[in-house]
Amino acid sequence: MNKNLKLSVKNSGLLNLKFFKDLPDGNLFIAEARQQVPFDIERIYFINTLANPKAIRGKHAHRELKQGIFCISGSFNLSLDDGFSKQRILLNDPSCGVLLGPMLWHTMSSFSYDCVILVLASAGFNEADYIRDYDKFLTLAGASRKPGVKAKIAT
Ligand code: TYD
Repeated sequence: MNKNLKLSVKNSGLLNLKFFKDLPDGNLFIAEARQQVPFDIERIYFINTLANPKAIRGKHAHRELKQGIFCISGSFNLSLDDGFSKQRILLNDPSCGVLLGPMLWHTMSSFSYDCVILVLASAGFNEADYIRDYDKFLTLAGASRKPGVKAKIAT
């Protein structure tokens, strides 16, 4: 993953963690609220045992929640869509994550066998904050499906 990658979708950005390389005795990565992560962290969750390489996770947006998503082992593809632009990012560096701000449709796929995803979230779990229907997301984002018009895709 390129730490200087420019994100073309709205409400996103790269999150570069502080880290200390102590090899061969390990690496230490640090995420501090309001520093490397631009919000107060209220919840942490992680996803492991992504044994199905064809699994697809996410497929939703949040109305208000802010999250920082990191791949702390292995790799996966993160696809982002703000209703107007799309971008696919390979996450394969524990020190470099992605900000998932409000109104960003996101999908995770192509998990390596050893993939572990860590997510830092700005609020507790609230199903009412989820938008799980893509057409509803487009409407709320002020975008709409127009026949023959494809969203701009950056990689
Ligand atoms: P979901 O956020 O849809 O997972 P993903 O985006 O990784 O595909 O959550 C999957 C299920 O887990 C869903 O039923 C809601 C539940 N869940 C909680 O109860 N609390 C949480 O903090 C999270 C993240 C999910």
